[in-house]
Amino acid sequence: MQNILVTGAAGQIGSELTTALRKKYGSENVIATGHKTKPEKPLLESGPFHFIDCTEIDTVAEMVKKYKVSTIYHLAAILSAVAEATPQLAWNVNMIGLYNVLEVARKYKCSVFTPSSIGAFGPTTPLNRTPQETIQRPNTMYGVTKVAGELLCDYYFKRFRVDTRGVRYPGIISYKTLPGGGTTDYAVEIYYDAIKQKKYTCYLKKGTYLDMMYMPDALKAAIDLMEANPAKLKHRNAFNVTAMSVAPENIAAEIEKIIPKFTMDFKIDPLRQAIADSWPNNMDDSAAREEWGWQPEYDLESMTEDMIENLSKKLKIKIH
Ligand code: SER
Repeated sequence: MQNILVTGAAGQIGSELTTALRKKYGSENVIATGHKTKPEKPLLESGPFHFIDCTEIDTVAEMVKKYKVSTIYHLAAILSAVAEATPQLAWNVNMIGLYNVLEVARKYKCSVFTPSSIGAFGPTTPLNRTPQETIQRPNTMYGVTKVAGELLCDYYFKRFRVDTRGVRYPGIISYKTLPGGGTTDYAVEIYYDAIKQKKYTCYLKKGTYLDMMYMPDALKAAIDLMEANPAKLKHRNAFNVTAMSVAPENIAAEIEKIIPKFTMDFKIDPLRQAIADSWPNNMDDSAAREEWGWQPEYDLESMTEDMIENLSKKLKIKIH
């Protein structure tokens, strides 16, 4: 049995990915690790959990040795808005952390899943039907670390045959763990505020289209790619994947269908607006579809229904 290590397991994707991996591969075989944030009880109690610091290579190596890990899902990272506020921290966590994971993977022969992002693109990238291979000149620290990370993963495969794989995630929407400090966070906040107070103040302008995806599809992308037949992978890292391209008013309109009193106004955050404007409106994910059968299940309508149903249960608020 292969053992799996998840870094960033207390984070938005990590918390749900750990649960999905435990269900699939057995609770004891999935080692969850976080840095400072204590995860929710179910995750803490359903299998091994340790605090580590990916910027300290020994703490990563210790986990891999101790648990005979063969696959690492490396999710520990700083998101875009926090990265702009603290670029030095972002470089350290996103680059040194990834380098350490890849070095440990090289030494102990692990495969590695690393998420890249729509943030790996920039203002000179074609923003519509953004191709798999195109101009990548991001002007944020987050973007710098994501492009460098994609290249580093490619290099470790080419030079050391480390089985590196990854996707460029769009904004991820979920009702369990909140994202922390990203540009796409509005698309999660809007559902919380719609249920709690029937109104939301959006920090991005109308017409700001970005790729988004519901969490079950994001988990499926990671697991399917790691299980894909390597002979079929022409790309390995940084596959464009998307499920929908939406602007704030599109989500608001969908919410209104279920919560008719919902209203949205705007108070633009110039930092996050500038970041969003430099990212694709919609990515072309045909390489992922062709090479490993990527296919999302949720669109805006089905995601909104599921989000509102589950979030209102979680918040214990009746919407009707
Ligand atoms: N959701 C991320 C962010 O907004 C994008 O990768 O930073």
